Amino acid sequence: MDLPPFLLDHWLAKHSFATPPIAYDLASSTGPKWTVGELLALGDGTGLDDTVLSYAPSEGGRALREAIGTFLGVDPDWVVVTLGASEAFSILLCAAARPGTNVVLPSPGYPAFDPMAGVWGLGVRHVRLSRDNGFRQHAADVLDAVDESTVFALVNTPHNPAGTIMPRDGIEELAAALHRKGVPLVVDEVYHPLYFGKPQPSAASLSNVIAMGDMSKAMSLAGLRIGWLVERDPQRREKMIDARSYFTISSSPLLERLAVHALANRDVLLTRLQAVAGENLVALSDFMDRVSDVLAWARPAGGTVCFPWFRDGRDSRPFCEALAANGVLVAPGDCFGMPEHMRLGFALLRPEKFSQALGIFERILREG
Ligand SMILES: Cc1ncc(COP(=O)(O)O)c(C=O)c1O
Repeated sequence: MDLPPFLLDHWLAKHSFATPPIAYDLASSTGPKWTVGELLALGDGTGLDDTVLSYAPSEGGRALREAIGTFLGVDPDWVVVTLGASEAFSILLCAAARPGTNVVLPSPGYPAFDPMAGVWGLGVRHVRLSRDNGFRQHAADVLDAVDESTVFALVNTPHNPAGTIMPRDGIEELAAALHRKGVPLVVDEVYHPLYFGKPQPSAASLSNVIAMGDMSKAMSLAGLRIGWLVERDPQRREKMIDARSYFTISSSPLLERLAVHALANRDVLLTRLQAVAGENLVALSDFMDRVSDVLAWARPAGGTVCFPWFRDGRDSRPFCEALAANGVLVAPGDCFGMPEHMRLGFALLRPEKFSQALGIFERILREG
């Protein structure tokens, strides 16, 4: 199967990775960036000098699995380290794919989900999230989409691109109901634990849940390319570790070591993210009020992104191009199959820069 062009990454490649990069990046979905120097300056150092540059174990080094287990409140033995949540998702698909089977995925959703399921020969059954009810993910809708050939159902909370969350009781109810159907629930929680209301625990400790997470989003360390699966079932875990051996053998021990150090200092990383995202969200809410004659949105309950749309239904790409020409980058909704929307990230830029970007956004919106 041919993979379709990854429109979101093309857009980011053209603008964020340009020389010089775009002045105001509101298209990316991570928090404020960290340099290696800033990370190493936290805590008591990493002992990086003694790192042996060999392979790491395929399931991940013990120290990293313990650090992830502590972060999520689960047995470290359940953790399988991966190259980002991207590899974690491929491992799930590879392990589940059989002729005639399908997976249940949210729509809209992270753009890699559908094409990657297709590449592994899996059918896709969508749970359509409606903006009319704030893109909420309901257990009943997921259950409706499951049939006798479903190998897993996935919810993404906090959600990319909508920023909605599925509350804990909804996840528990769904995991239990799916268990009765013999279908595991995959919870993609890469934006955990960034919530703007009541804090939520990780879903990793729930039975019948396979949790997927990473260092890219809440820790804002996408360059470590470290992710994980949390799977309590030893047989299924063994298959995942085998898949990893085939796919990439292991992560880099150097990056694993940095990830252990980052997790040991996660309070600093998360506090900075929460402060930037929280302050920017206040400015963004004011902005959305001011432009509510043109744009509508569902206020995010967690994560780093939201998914506003043009009330008149116009395609957002020409506007996004005009905005980019003025130094502000948001991602066109067609990257997510919904052209009248745009994805706006509010956690990367410091509040002062973020407010400047919103000022330019408003000017271009009014001029157009
Ligand atoms: C919901 C979701 N899942 C998975 C990923 C993959 O991220 P990574 O491979 O950096 O862990 C992303 C990246 O944007 C995402 O938004």
